Amino acid sequence: MNRTFKKITATTLAIMLLLSCFGVSSSAIDPFAEVRSSWAMNQEEWNTYFSDARITKDVVELTPGSDESQMNFSWQSDVEEGTPVVMISLNADMTEAVEFKGEASMAGTRFSNKVTVTGLEASSIYYYTYGKGVADSEPERFRTGDADSFTALYCSDVHISNDSTEEPDSLSTTSYKWHNALNKMVNDNIEADFILSAGDQASGGLASEMFGFYSPSVLRNVPIASCIGNHEKKAYDYGYFGNKPNEYKGISTSYIGGDYWFTYNEVLFLVMDSTNGSSVDHLRFVQDAIKANPDAKWRVGMLHHDLYGGAYSRADSDNALLEALFNPIFSDYDFDIVLAGHSHYYGRTHGMEMDAVVEDYTGVSDITNPDGTIFMVSTSINRVRDDTYPESKDESIAVNKIINDTIYTSLTFEGDSMEINSYTLAEHELVDTLTVHKTDAPENDDEFFGFTIFAGVLGTIYSLVNKFIELFRKMGIEIKL
Ligand SMILES: [Fe+2]
Ligand SMILES: [Fe+2]
Repeated sequence: MNRTFKKITATTLAIMLLLSCFGVSSSAIDPFAEVRSSWAMNQEEWNTYFSDARITKDVVELTPGSDESQMNFSWQSDVEEGTPVVMISLNADMTEAVEFKGEASMAGTRFSNKVTVTGLEASSIYYYTYGKGVADSEPERFRTGDADSFTALYCSDVHISNDSTEEPDSLSTTSYKWHNALNKMVNDNIEADFILSAGDQASGGLASEMFGFYSPSVLRNVPIASCIGNHEKKAYDYGYFGNKPNEYKGISTSYIGGDYWFTYNEVLFLVMDSTNGSSVDHLRFVQDAIKANPDAKWRVGMLHHDLYGGAYSRADSDNALLEALFNPIFSDYDFDIVLAGHSHYYGRTHGMEMDAVVEDYTGVSDITNPDGTIFMVSTSINRVRDDTYPESKDESIAVNKIINDTIYTSLTFEGDSMEINSYTLAEHELVDTLTVHKTDAPENDDEFFGFTIFAGVLGTIYSLVNKFIELFRKMGIEIKL
């Protein structure tokens, strides 16, 4: 980062500090005030936007970088030639811009271009352009979170579908619903710094669906981190999208990607592929991530399968096995919270250790230094469940909601607290809230080490079977499960 760049950032920070003296925090300043109107599209405008985007296939994807000072970029192109370049500036006219170069690699029949931008300062609005050889795109903007607070919006099961037997023009329709949902979420939570998507982004795992997933215009401004769901495993295209930091390559890592981690301020996000049942892989990944981030105060897991669900609790036969695989890891390494999807029903557990409730959160909205791990399940964007399913009687569940609407969650980390607020999408009604205060540092132990080894053997068998199925499918041999 050059000196002028640092000086402008310092000026921005000084203005933020001045505003905070008058009681205006930087997160209260809307960084996207000028572009919100470009996010909103009626059906006709969307049809034009989406068909144009499908012709140019020119959609840039922003993913949180390795830490809050980085931002990862990726986009696809038909040609490999030309070094992928991103220009970053604190000015809308891109003056004083700094250049970052990346690399291109094969992505199916196209090429994936990936660039990592480093040296970002907190509480700033940055402008960027990108391209091959020359960053000749139109300037767009993103913001960075405050040094002592940030907010992530967590949702799941977006289910973009390119299946005309399901619905005519389903690709455009499901992408438009996602576009509108994102606009609503980010407009109702202007402090949001990034989005978390807990799997099943693409119903058929197709490139066209992943393109639809990244097509909403708000994603030119707000980064998104996703994990692999069972639907991503129906094809091989998920891995060609996004620029995930700190990817772990294990013995059973899928062809489409695996576990990865990033940090934001004092929070370590551990994103895991629950379709890979090798707990040996996941254990090593978690150990490596924690070793690289010994000072992280919070540990947040994200994986697709709901180990503990709400209304549709543990309905899949593999959930019990996944509990056996993952629980020793979450318990031994003191995860604060684990975010999931898959059931499409909202749920939040009590404090769990292994398979036992260690702290009852019935009617509780404020806790300090809790024992155990909280597990959450989000709902779906395009496949909202109806409200006819009976209430869960599972003893692990503290809160479940059966509402004929999407429920998503904001997670705000500030000082010693994590504030969890869950809202309905349509009305922005607060349906669940919990604030966790934490003064303890996380502990690592090997209390369940023997169980981890046992689960490791089970999981390796499970994942090898999965890997063979994946290989057969890749060879064109259809396996139906
Ligand atoms: Fe799903
Ligand atoms: Fe799923």
